[in-house]
Amino acid sequence: MFNCRVCNHQIEPFMDFGPMPIANGFLKKEEFAEEYFFRMEVAFCDHCGAFQLVEQPDAQRMFHENYAFFSSLSKHMQIHFKAYADFVMERFFAGRKDPFVVELGSNDGIMLRNFKEAGYRHLGVEPSENVADVARAQGIQTISEFFNLELAERLVAEYGHADAVICANVMCHIPDINNVAAGMAKLLKPDGVLMFEDPYLGDMIAKTSYDQIYDEHVYIFSATSVSWAFGQHGLELIDVLPQVTHGGSMRYVFAPKGSHAISPNVAALLEKERAQGLHKAETYEQFRRNCEASRTALFGLLERLHQEGKRVVGYGATSKSTTVLNYCGIRPEHIEFISDTTPIKQGKYSPGVHIPVRPYEEFKQNPPDYALLFAWNHAVEIFEKEGAFTADGGKWITFVPEVRVL
Ligand code: TMP
Ligand code: ZN
Repeated sequence: MFNCRVCNHQIEPFMDFGPMPIANGFLKKEEFAEEYFFRMEVAFCDHCGAFQLVEQPDAQRMFHENYAFFSSLSKHMQIHFKAYADFVMERFFAGRKDPFVVELGSNDGIMLRNFKEAGYRHLGVEPSENVADVARAQGIQTISEFFNLELAERLVAEYGHADAVICANVMCHIPDINNVAAGMAKLLKPDGVLMFEDPYLGDMIAKTSYDQIYDEHVYIFSATSVSWAFGQHGLELIDVLPQVTHGGSMRYVFAPKGSHAISPNVAALLEKERAQGLHKAETYEQFRRNCEASRTALFGLLERLHQEGKRVVGYGATSKSTTVLNYCGIRPEHIEFISDTTPIKQGKYSPGVHIPVRPYEEFKQNPPDYALLFAWNHAVEIFEKEGAFTADGGKWITFVPEVRVL
């Protein structure tokens, strides 16, 4: 039993993924002996609807100088964040006098850059100093601090209230959601808007994409759960917009109660979530059984290919792959290496299981019989690029929504 992080009700975990290392903790051989593991259990609160991790490693273990994730390295994400910024400017800034936008977890300024170019007042809040420096070098106003209620009060005193508070892939990382929601409510103008997008629970349940669950994602949100959580702080859900990013995300738009018209999308999604059973414990029992079946199928396939002497290489050393590899009991003999284009991961080993991460050039020069698609959320982009691999007889293994060879 433990207390729900959102509403404090007593809840019981429904699934244990076993000991898990830090998902993005790619490491060197000499670091194996001191590798950190936590017990990855998940729980669903039938009072407020929050899907959550029971235990989360300390923030310093997950986010540090070497974490250095620079959003702008991905062309697709640049396009996505320009569209997000355009949505805010067109829908909420038209007709406002000198609007002010604050982004939490603004990274290297991938989204705020668009507001700056349009001439809007903006402020990024990015705790990671080295990432924030990249934004500042481009003239994007950024402070390096953790957002909370106390910081919100200081920001209001210094800059005034915000017309929009925005974030992406940040909110689901923050365990103390009540403090942050209170801070956001404090920072907003009475007619301001708050929006965030994160991986969506409805997609994860529908696709058995359990690899969304890892140390950084303390919550997997639904419209039901966020409207409960933010409703506690005087905010109401006024719109929801599904996104294809990260294998299925949802953008939630909130505003102070009564300040904005509510889109019919909200009631439609809440109804869809009921129909999907996202409010019921049985749904999560079924999800657990689906995960177990997926694990059996993937492990069985890799065992068979190993016995047949086939070469299997992982494609994309994603954070998500850490959950898959450790949960499924996959071992280095099943996967020769994981190909990845990110220089800081190359030459290191995958967390927990210790499969070598090699540069993409090695995949190109010596293509395997099978490529296991860990970066399945980028499948469209990858299949476009890897036509030659398939044409030469290479096969893909995917495990979302089910284990298949393509
Ligand atoms: P992400 O899902 O967090 O964006 O991580 C994707 C990882 O996959 C990142 O380490 C880069 C890697 N990757 C490749 O190696 N090749 C590719 O074509 C793509 C799209 C990603
Ligand atoms: Zn709860």
